[in-house]
Amino acid sequence: MLAFARAAAADAALVASLPLDSDGRTWLRLDGPGGSEAWLIGWPPGTGTGWHDHGGSHGAFVTASGLLTEDALAARIPTEGWRTLELAEGVDRQRLLTPGRGRAFGPHHVHQVLNSTARHAVSVHAYYPPLPLMRRYSRSGDVLRLEQTERPEEW
Ligand SMILES: [Fe+2]
Repeated sequence: MLAFARAAAADAALVASLPLDSDGRTWLRLDGPGGSEAWLIGWPPGTGTGWHDHGGSHGAFVTASGLLTEDALAARIPTEGWRTLELAEGVDRQRLLTPGRGRAFGPHHVHQVLNSTARHAVSVHAYYPPLPLMRRYSRSGDVLRLEQTERPEEW
């Protein structure tokens, strides 16, 4: 999936086909490899996902244009059975993803992705299996709180 995301991110015609909207994120569904779910996503300045997981799916994403920041937790977060969780010190990781840079992640990955720059960014994302759900979290200092679980019909 990372190779797919990298190739799609390098496809200038594909990236240019994504409509951009200064008021919010835009999406274009792609045919992901091997039954994966894939998206081209446009990020206006200041937009971000908020903290979330991927419902147990693996994933990969690569910046195609602009600059994205990923804040991630280097900790294995239990998927069920808690409402708030105090994070250990030192689990925060931040990556700046310039065009062509990205990452793959495993089924327990919790992160947020944001465009904190003044220009639009575009990225390619792939998930396998296709996202069954996403858990959304809020973060206050070291405390992570489960806010809601979203199903595909809600996004
Ligand atoms: Fe994500």
